[in-house]
Amino acid sequence: MNECEIKKRALELLSKMSIEDKIGQVTQITFNADNIEESCEKIRKIKPGSIILCWSSLGGAEKQQSVCVEALNILQKTAVTETPSKIPILFARDVIHGHHVAFPVPLTMTQSFDFDLIERSYDAIREEALSDGIKWTFAPMLDMSHEPRWGRIVEGPGEDPYIGKMFARSCVKGFQTKDYSSENSMLACAKHFVGYGASEGGRDYNHTEISDYNLQNNYLPAFKEAIDCGVATVMSGFNDVNGIPVTGNRKILTEILRNQLGFTGFVVSDWNAIAQLHEFSGFSENPKHSAGLALKAGVDMDMVCNCYFDNIKSLLKEEKITMRELDSAVLRVIETKLRFGLFEKPYAKNRTYNKEQHILLSKKLAEESIVLIKNNDNILPLNKNKPVSICGNFADEGEELVGTWSLDYDKSLNKTVREAIGEFNQNIHNFDESNRDEICLVVLGEKREVTGEAACLADISLSNDKISLIKKVKQSGRKAIGVLCFARPIVLGEAKELFDAIIWCGHGGSMASKAIASVLFGESEPSGRLTFTLPFSIGQLPIYYNSLPGSRKINGYYSDINPRHGNYKDCQGEPAYPFGYGLSYTTFKISDFACDSTALINELKNGKSFGVDFSVKNIGNCVGVCVPQLYIRDLVATTVRPLRSLVRFCKVTLPVGETKSLHFDIYLSDFGFYTETGEFIVEGGKFELYLGENCLADNKKTVELI
Ligand code: BGC
Repeated sequence: MNECEIKKRALELLSKMSIEDKIGQVTQITFNADNIEESCEKIRKIKPGSIILCWSSLGGAEKQQSVCVEALNILQKTAVTETPSKIPILFARDVIHGHHVAFPVPLTMTQSFDFDLIERSYDAIREEALSDGIKWTFAPMLDMSHEPRWGRIVEGPGEDPYIGKMFARSCVKGFQTKDYSSENSMLACAKHFVGYGASEGGRDYNHTEISDYNLQNNYLPAFKEAIDCGVATVMSGFNDVNGIPVTGNRKILTEILRNQLGFTGFVVSDWNAIAQLHEFSGFSENPKHSAGLALKAGVDMDMVCNCYFDNIKSLLKEEKITMRELDSAVLRVIETKLRFGLFEKPYAKNRTYNKEQHILLSKKLAEESIVLIKNNDNILPLNKNKPVSICGNFADEGEELVGTWSLDYDKSLNKTVREAIGEFNQNIHNFDESNRDEICLVVLGEKREVTGEAACLADISLSNDKISLIKKVKQSGRKAIGVLCFARPIVLGEAKELFDAIIWCGHGGSMASKAIASVLFGESEPSGRLTFTLPFSIGQLPIYYNSLPGSRKINGYYSDINPRHGNYKDCQGEPAYPFGYGLSYTTFKISDFACDSTALINELKNGKSFGVDFSVKNIGNCVGVCVPQLYIRDLVATTVRPLRSLVRFCKVTLPVGETKSLHFDIYLSDFGFYTETGEFIVEGGKFELYLGENCLADNKKTVELI
């Protein structure tokens, strides 16, 4: 069906629907897997547009009872045969970074800087979810954040809007495929629109204060990308932006989301968020008032709180909302179902998939996501024949590494770090001051339960007992290798200097431990790079690479401050490790950086690109993966522009001694920015381009845009 036919068919369906049928379509309910008949009864009564296959508001924190195709088909049959409008139900579940096979949590997977691999991973994740009849997922989570105290930072792409865009694209394409009307496709949901990552103080569900300029340039781009890639649905955030809860915010959900960004699918609220307008925010008087505000703002479907179901009829009667407003929401839901081909194929099929292949893919992504952040005297990779000691709170963890929002993972896949290392080297001992091992792996991490939703931390520094353990290892005369399994950025404190080598592993999913062992023993390259800043001190928060320069050199991220004007007298300005950072087991030389010194705006406006050439040579002793990155700085503009913005990167594997010539094309869009009203503008003048292996790159060229 083409768009025209879809619209026509949706109107035909709408014309035959009663008010009850319509209200049902804008309602999402939960279901009771233990009592299918009770759920069928609910379907007959409510005629819901969607069912969320999840049993609690904190689904992400627990392994949930799994669902099966047969049960879902019984529910679907009830909808398509026993409800008056016979509209099939959309079954939704949070499939965030894996299903049976868990892949790294989103923040960890972005460290791979390999967005093709991420897209292939979401392809695999989709196949697994479809095999359980799940047709709609609440991913990607695109909340850019500068707040590592916020537990949900691990669910998103980190601090950079460009990485956010890349992540949005891979995830939407992986879930929805090229043809989202095919039965191999699943609906994606870009969430949480918008600004949730700015939760004040990193406290979940908190107020957010975001200027229009910041919103347009930092928080919206990833959503714009998802919309441009055709994302079918969007979830509104729990947060209020500048005092207006998003769930009741017409400017955000209609003027920006639809009118500016061109979104045409439907908007679902977050869990119980409509009710929270009166329960917590003091933005409405009662459930009825909340329902009216949300519908008028642009929320098309109510997730689980029944505010729409209980109140829309009387809101219509009292003329607080119009039938047209309700119809618009209903049409968006049924048009999406028509586009998705749900009417032709309402039932889920028993499908198989190649699990072995998914396991390999998950391992590859976990490996590529590991970041080598320190390697004194090339102590890594480890020698398989030399004994090693092991200690730390995560030495015997396996399952914890699946990460938050792992509802259906196969428990049997996760090995512990010790077991995985044992597959390379059986000469592994518990750390004990008396043995003679020269090297000790100190495996430290945070549990899933302190990451994700409602899991914020006031103190993100490495705890004293962990620092004491590292000191003990060092005092025993051993080299200490930090294997760090933290899903969020943390403050390393003394550990930064104490460790002889550090690999940053995040929460790597089902294959996390195997990936760790493979990188430690050099079977695979540590080719990950940080997609966030590792702060030196909690007091520096927020600290991020693309901040605005300020009025004197107060920032210090780029160690260019005059100490007199440094903003902290008791702390350095630089972070512990910068955005984009990561080492390799070899070293690279980037040279021959060349580009024109001028670029013509008019030519760029006609789609012409501006070329940047350079070469990379592997000057070390083993094959390695280099991740050259190009950053831009607009030197003079009508609004203050960031110190650096990532505009391009690539990932190249180079054998020893080999040189590769590389080229980046940059476009008009890389030079411009959004005004506070959402207009994209490009101003002439001078720009600096920085090329290197992280955001501190000092290989610089100046380009004048005329
Ligand atoms: C979370 C969403 C999630 C939804 C459904 C909410 O509590 O904020 O991210 O998709 O629950 O499980």
